[in-house]
Amino acid sequence: MAQLWGGRFTKETDQMVYDFNASIGFDKRLYRQDIEGSRAHVKMLGKQGILTQEEVEAILSGLDSILEDVEGGRLPITNQYEDIHSFVEANLIERIGDAGKKLHTGRSRNDQVALDMKLYVREEVKRTDGLLKDLLQELLAIMEGNLSTYMPGFTHLQKAQPITLAHHMGAYYEMFRRDRTRLSDIYRRMNVCPLGSGALAGTTYPLDREYTAELLGFAGATLNSMDSVSDRDYLIEYLAALSTIMMHLSRFSEEIILWNSNEYRFVEIDDAYSTGSSIMPQKKNPDIAELVRGKTGRVYGALMSLLTTMKGIPLAYNKDMQEDKEMAFDAIDTVQTCLPLFTGMIATMKFQNSVMEESAKKGFTNATDAADYLVNRGVPFRDAHGIIGRLVLLCIEKGCALDDLSMEEYKEASQVFEKDIYEAISMETCVGKRLTKGAPGMEAMQEAIRIYREELERD
Ligand code: ARG
Repeated sequence: MAQLWGGRFTKETDQMVYDFNASIGFDKRLYRQDIEGSRAHVKMLGKQGILTQEEVEAILSGLDSILEDVEGGRLPITNQYEDIHSFVEANLIERIGDAGKKLHTGRSRNDQVALDMKLYVREEVKRTDGLLKDLLQELLAIMEGNLSTYMPGFTHLQKAQPITLAHHMGAYYEMFRRDRTRLSDIYRRMNVCPLGSGALAGTTYPLDREYTAELLGFAGATLNSMDSVSDRDYLIEYLAALSTIMMHLSRFSEEIILWNSNEYRFVEIDDAYSTGSSIMPQKKNPDIAELVRGKTGRVYGALMSLLTTMKGIPLAYNKDMQEDKEMAFDAIDTVQTCLPLFTGMIATMKFQNSVMEESAKKGFTNATDAADYLVNRGVPFRDAHGIIGRLVLLCIEKGCALDDLSMEEYKEASQVFEKDIYEAISMETCVGKRLTKGAPGMEAMQEAIRIYREELERD
């Protein structure tokens, strides 16, 4: 047991209490952020004349050697320390002696941990954004190559109207594009430095908080020290953004699982991203997509957990807040694993273009266009709807598509039909005419893609 606060105690902490209280088991992943924060703090103390230049130099080189040794595997972070802050400070004192004892001047673990966690989350927000960008690049490449790959668009999981694969992928593009904007909002809002808030009420030392903030790449220092040590909003927002990303990945996974099924056969997941069955030799299962869908639950769990932890905490710091870490780390790890796996899966997945197109035709997705054909030739919409409905019924009996009916059959249903009906209900025409902004028609899609390309090249 190594702790920073034995002075006013007359008894040793009970071992079970010590273990229950300790956070080193999981906050050890913050060692880099903890050292980075301490470096900035000490430089600021030096600039303000609170520590001498020699003390600052000694502390900085001590901190650097700890960082090197941890990263080189020479200094294991063991449970002998209560938390990562105690670990770094104890090792510093061991290495440089008395100067090390001055590191914590004008600082509390409360503002220290608030800083460490913020530094960590700030990096992860950036990393998540990069992974989303990789996914968007992949999606955009699929879109660009499939502007006239026709497929059914669904509502109620019933074939509705013809679209293209580019358009369908474009819907997911929009979701992940919004996710990126959520992350940049969070980054901007969270990018203020809590260090220098002390335990809760600031400090009497003449700290230059703006200087520390600048050293750590923050836009500025926070304005209320009590809020600074007890704010975890940014983490809640990040977990909400991660939950939304997982919700999107999960919907996408669900479609891929359906599309990969024997019944759909719209796609074939690459062997490298599928798994077999231990008993059924014919099986090739979409486990990756299923796991991504499944893991969505634990990310939501982290969000619910933190919201619940925070809801009853009075100002300012309370130990409950140590619970902000484990599930958040798990959620972050989960998303950072799912995103690249998912990108790899769709990059290697084969789309069965002809199956998709056949499915669009057989599913009467051009029925609306057939009704519009009549409307454009003076038939009231309600009558047109009825005429096409009867033709669909005929097709179902014959097991064919609207495109396969003969001219006589069309004429029998309505004299208004002419030979140009076939052209009017072809996939090319049905999709090609849909040119409203955001629609699947070629020019409309090209315009969207142009905007996406430009955006991706910008950042
Ligand atoms: N391990 C603590 C946490 O994660 C660090 C802050 C401890 N502060 C305190 N006053 N006990 O929140």
